[in-house]
Amino acid sequence: MPKTVITYGTFDLFHYGHQALLEHAKELGDYLIVGITSDAFDKMRGKFDVKQPLVERIHAVEKTGLADKIIIEEFKGQKIEDIRKYHVDIFTVGSDWEGKFDYLKEYCDVVYLPRTQGVSSTSIRKEKSKRYSLGCIGINDFSNRIIRECNHVSEGGVTAICPSGNDPSGITVENEQISIVSGLDEMKDDIDAVYISGNPKQRAETVRCALEYGLHVLSEGPIAYSNREASLLQSLAVEKNLVLMEALSILYQPGFQRLKLLIESGIVGEIKDIDSSYSLVPDQIDYNDIYDSSTFRMSTRTLLPALVFLGPHFEQAQVICGYEKDYCTWAKYNLLYKTASATLKTGRGVKTEGSMVITGTDGYVYVPAPWWKLEYFEVRYEDLRDTRKHYYECVGEGQRYMLKQFFHYCDDGNVYSDARDELHNIELSVTQLIELANSADCLKLENNSLRFGGGETVNK
Ligand code: CTP
Repeated sequence: MPKTVITYGTFDLFHYGHQALLEHAKELGDYLIVGITSDAFDKMRGKFDVKQPLVERIHAVEKTGLADKIIIEEFKGQKIEDIRKYHVDIFTVGSDWEGKFDYLKEYCDVVYLPRTQGVSSTSIRKEKSKRYSLGCIGINDFSNRIIRECNHVSEGGVTAICPSGNDPSGITVENEQISIVSGLDEMKDDIDAVYISGNPKQRAETVRCALEYGLHVLSEGPIAYSNREASLLQSLAVEKNLVLMEALSILYQPGFQRLKLLIESGIVGEIKDIDSSYSLVPDQIDYNDIYDSSTFRMSTRTLLPALVFLGPHFEQAQVICGYEKDYCTWAKYNLLYKTASATLKTGRGVKTEGSMVITGTDGYVYVPAPWWKLEYFEVRYEDLRDTRKHYYECVGEGQRYMLKQFFHYCDDGNVYSDARDELHNIELSVTQLIELANSADCLKLENNSLRFGGGETVNK
């Protein structure tokens, strides 16, 4: 009879001790199940310092090719349930747990494997525990939020701030430990990374300067508005082994990460369509500032569901835009993939329902408005009694997850190059679509008519 083996762990910063443990575990039987602790479960059991989010820890175990199945450990007492559910013959962990799991002998064999000496996630975390100094360029609501959220992140904090213009006079910051300087030049030697917000026209140039100075960059909004420029900046970052990422906090929130994993595991089968909207009616709109419009300001978040769940490489794209003078208030992106489609809408000065539906061959995911908070979603099937409801708390304003991830990438950009490539590809697709929205190939909604690129007008 083939033997099923199960083992559990956090597998943070995957090291050779983990590798040896998995190899030995695999040798004990024919089918190896690896249980990996969820972020929430680790926090619940007092492991607050885990560096990598669940998705990355899973990918590291997957990469070994040793696990036949990976499951997520979410609560105390789950082990017995798993052993019964998967008809496990052998439970195994390292010898640092000697005796702790003897209570499982009632359900299967329990084997304590010799622990590899001289390595642990804790010791690697200690070696790596540098605290990053972040400089903020731009003084506005975004940078204030970053300053606040950094207070909850042990890996780094804001130490200097400057306005996006050159005049720091009259500016005060609540935290006295943060120095106010006139520009990047004045703070570059005292910081490791910059957070850039405000002044989108200057963004690409500021990003380039920061990279040239050897600083990691976190950008509020796209790093550039031209695809070519974004690609050049990314190459510069890779060449200098620096992190360059857009501040897409939603990507790092527990609910979004969990939804991504569930979709990757095929919870609704093969994805066939994604439909979502992201819109806002702000108190004031400056219709002369096109960088504040829906395409420039809101496209990244709008496009994320498709670019993450269906991938950054679509086959075809069509954009329909509605304008108020030169200001795009409404944009509708239709993306076509090999076997799937997506419709993503965004409005600034136009309001619509902000839910998301991910359609699959076995069922669908429904995320109620506002989907971008992603604290709650339902996985629904033909038989509504099979509906599963998921709730993931997002603490604070959500940026702390992104900041943690950013500093973590800064620790060693090379190790996380897969994740970085994925982010870079998403950013390139976003700039490509923003360019399309601003080109003659975009369909323009004008005074109740559709104007096609080239000037042809079709009355509705
Ligand atoms: N393990 C091992 N040898 C090591 C480290 C871990 O055999 N040097 C085993 C553990 O005994 C466990 C599995 O790997 O069965 C996953 O352990 P985990 O707790 O994730 O790794 P640690 O390095 O022990 O992490 P930490 O320092 O956070 O406790």
